[in-house]
Amino acid sequence: DIDTEALRQLATAHRAQPGGLLPALHAIQDRWGHVPPQGVPVIAEVFNLSRAEVHGVVTYYHHFRSAPPGRHVVQLCRAEACQAMGAEDLVAHAERQAGCALHATSADGRLTLEPVYCLGLCASSPAIAIDGEPHARITPQRYDALIGALVDAAVPAPALAEAP
Ligand code: FES
Repeated sequence: DIDTEALRQLATAHRAQPGGLLPALHAIQDRWGHVPPQGVPVIAEVFNLSRAEVHGVVTYYHHFRSAPPGRHVVQLCRAEACQAMGAEDLVAHAERQAGCALHATSADGRLTLEPVYCLGLCASSPAIAIDGEPHARITPQRYDALIGALVDAAVPAPALAEAP
């Protein structure tokens, strides 16, 4: 669950800044992995905006997510240099592999696929970033190897029932 007080504090820290809404949304997403819908009214109040206005900004910028991401976030570059080196084929491969489209999360909750527009690796395109770490010259084979090598955090064991 989201601590709305902590969210309010984070938003308030950006209130005095011109155009502070975007940095506030970035900070919130950095902290919780998404901009929680229940945080929208709080953000609206802090910035003296309507909920619809805040919601509009969150949905306008593809960078912001309204739902928590999968365990790993894969960003696929679709900007020009990567396009020229087969980025769209790589996107199609990634979508097939994950069984979901861009902006979505695989059914097992493992991967979220997102487009990105230049990772600064244009000379070694196509490029992707996995959990924020950039990788260059990605072929479908390398992609599969990188995804296969991702370590998922251990699922916490169910709490043991207390002994009577
Ligand atoms: Fe893809 Fe620059 S265009 S890294």
